[in-house]
This record gives sequence, structure tokens and C-alpha cells, in this order.
Amino acid sequence: MPKLFEPITIGSLTLSNRIVIAPMCQYSAEDGRMTDWHTIHLGQLALSGAGILTIEAAAVSPEGRISYADVGLWDDETEAAMGKVLESVRRWSSMPIAIQLAHAGRKASTAKPWDGGAQIAPGEPNGWQTVSASGLPFQSHENAPEALDAAGLARIRDAFAEAARRTARLGIDAIQIHAAHGYLLHQFLSPLSNHRTDEYGGSLENRMRFPLEVFDAVRAAFPAGKPVTVRVSGTDWVDGGWDIEQTIAFSRALEQRGVSAMHISSGGLHPAQAIPVGPNYQVPLARKVKEAVSVPVIAVGLITEPEQAEAIVGTGEADMVALARTVLYDPRWPWHAAAALGAQVSVAPQFLRCQPRRFKDLFSNG
Ligand SMILES: Cc1cc2nc3c(=O)[nH]c(=O)nc-3n(C[C@H](O)[C@H](O)[C@H](O)COP(=O)(O)O)c2cc1C
Repeated sequence: MPKLFEPITIGSLTLSNRIVIAPMCQYSAEDGRMTDWHTIHLGQLALSGAGILTIEAAAVSPEGRISYADVGLWDDETEAAMGKVLESVRRWSSMPIAIQLAHAGRKASTAKPWDGGAQIAPGEPNGWQTVSASGLPFQSHENAPEALDAAGLARIRDAFAEAARRTARLGIDAIQIHAAHGYLLHQFLSPLSNHRTDEYGGSLENRMRFPLEVFDAVRAAFPAGKPVTVRVSGTDWVDGGWDIEQTIAFSRALEQRGVSAMHISSGGLHPAQAIPVGPNYQVPLARKVKEAVSVPVIAVGLITEPEQAEAIVGTGEADMVALARTVLYDPRWPWHAAAALGAQVSVAPQFLRCQPRRFKDLFSNG
């Protein structure tokens, strides 16, 4: 039995294999509300045979969206729209579903990527004033964010908790807090974006304070036993920035507070980042975190081949692998991986008749 297809338990949730579908923004929401696009998109991924499907970054407040077309989970309307999509998906798939709760901070208020993705200034259509740890823009030509004061911090912390309560009401199986890719919580973690002089800036302990408070608020608002995980950038790939040693300290602090798993990505905080992009380029970061904590660790980034994924979990570099572009390109990737590795994958009964003869017993009835 390949390790990739061995079940794994996180909190009270058991996944049938170690393939995680990473969160992927679709820029197809209307005022934060999911649309039929999400039913189609999440529906096809929910039939892929992966162990768990992660809903794209869902903003905990309107100004926390990357773009005006992002999904949100901040009021009854956004909750109801997500509920409608989930009802359709769940009717036909039993795949566990997680959601990424997010706030984009200074990287908010942008155009959709296929419209260029540039920042939209406040006052322009679909633009708004951004917020961050400090008043430093992501790119020097951009509108500067407002540095959050104590009331602003409390508002965002409460918004994460409220979104966690809505997540619980929707029956979603797990929460992933987005503390990676240069978004708000990462803006607090990194000394490059956090120049505060109060108890939320300066020392590593101070920079971790707000992300840890958000974790505690989400953990308290979500049913005990249901996983709350954190996605973090293992490094900024910039000298003097957030790095793997700080990531390990953050992971240990989260472990003490009851984090269910750590998901290790990288970059996104600073335009000067120099990323050595290539297969497995972030796996060494995941391995270092795995050596330091006992909760499951997820590796992500250019994992494209079944044998590659099997080697990562088989040699213990990580406990699970997450896929984004690979599974967007080929939503049947888990089937193909099971075929290549000699494992079995559960499929919807409607699909049972398509099993190729040469892969005897590939499908089980999910
Ligand atoms: C279309 C698209 C949308 C994405 N949206 C998100 C997101 O909502 N949240 C997030 O943390 N990462 C997001 N990412 C990053 C992926 O989750 C993943 O970390 C990255 O693409 C590297 O994995 P890959 O090489 O398997 O694509 C997105 C990536 C793509 C391609």
C-alpha cells in the first residue's frame, strides 16, 4: 500500500488518503457570495478522490478580500450562498471539506488576475482603503495601508471568530487560517512589513502575538476536535525577512495552543523575493517544521507526479501533500496517482464503469 493512499487522522477527522486540494481563489464571487461557478469548480474537485478539499481564501470581512470578486464569509448572505454550494456538493460527494479563512491586509483591493491584478486605489470603482500591521505598501507605488489600531485589531480578530462560527454552522469539517503569502497575518509576522513599536511589533514574540490571538479566537469559536490548521510561509526568500527558524518558533507556539496541522508554503510578502522555483522547492521547509513539531505537516508547491508525492510522504518529509495547479489542470489526478502507484481510490458510483481494464480494482465505490 503506498503511503500516499494510507488514511490519516487529524483531530476527529479521518482522511482516506494524504492528497490535499489546496485553496484556490476563483475570483468569481459577487459581493463575497459564491456563485454557480463554485458549484461547478468545487463539485468537480469533490469527485476527484483526494483526501480533503480546501475552499479558497474566504475573506472574514469585505476589506479583507484580495479582489472585489473574492469569496467572503462575513454575513448571512455570504453564509447562505456558501451553504447553497455546499448542499449541492455534499449531496453527491462525501469528501471532507475545509475552508481557508483569510484577510488580505495591504494586498487587498486589486483587479482580478486576468484583468492584470493591479491594486485599485480607494475611491476608484471596486477599490477600498487597505489595512496592515504598518503603513507600508507592498509595492512602493501603491496606496499605503492604514496601520491597524487596537480597535481595528479587535474587529479583525472578532471577524475571524465570527467566520469560524459560520463555518461550524455550515458543517465544514476543518478550518485553515491563512497566515502565508504576504497577507495580513504574514504582514504581522515578517519584520519587513511589521514596523510597529507596540506589543505587536519588534521582537518575534510580539510579531507572532496577533496571529496567535487570531488562532486562539478561531480555535475557541470552532467545535473542539474539528481541526484548525495554519498555512504559513516558511520563508520570505528575502534577507532580513521571515525565515524558517521563525517559522519553527511560530509552529511550536501554535502546537502548544492546539493547532491540528501545519501547512508550509513560502513567499508572497515582498517584491524582492528570490524564489528557487522547481519541483519540491518548498518541501525542505516542511521537513524542517516536521522535525520540530509532532502535529501533521503538509508540503505544497510544484508537486506534480505520483511518484514524487509518494516519495515525500513515504520518506517522512511531510505527512500530506497539497496540490493546486496540478489538480486544477487534471481534476482526476488522484485517480491517476492511485493507478500509477497500485492503490485504490473511492469514486462516485456513476463513474464505476469507466475503470480501465488494465487497472483491476482501482475503484472502490465511494
Ligand atoms: C488559481 C490559484 C489560486 C490560488 N488561491 C490561493 C488561495 O486562495 N489561498 C492560498 O493560500 N493559496 C492560493 N494559491 C496558491 C496555491 O494554494 C499553492 O500554494 C501554489 O499554487 C503552489 O502549489 P502548486 O504548485 O501545486 O500550484 C492559489 C494558486 C492558484 C494557481
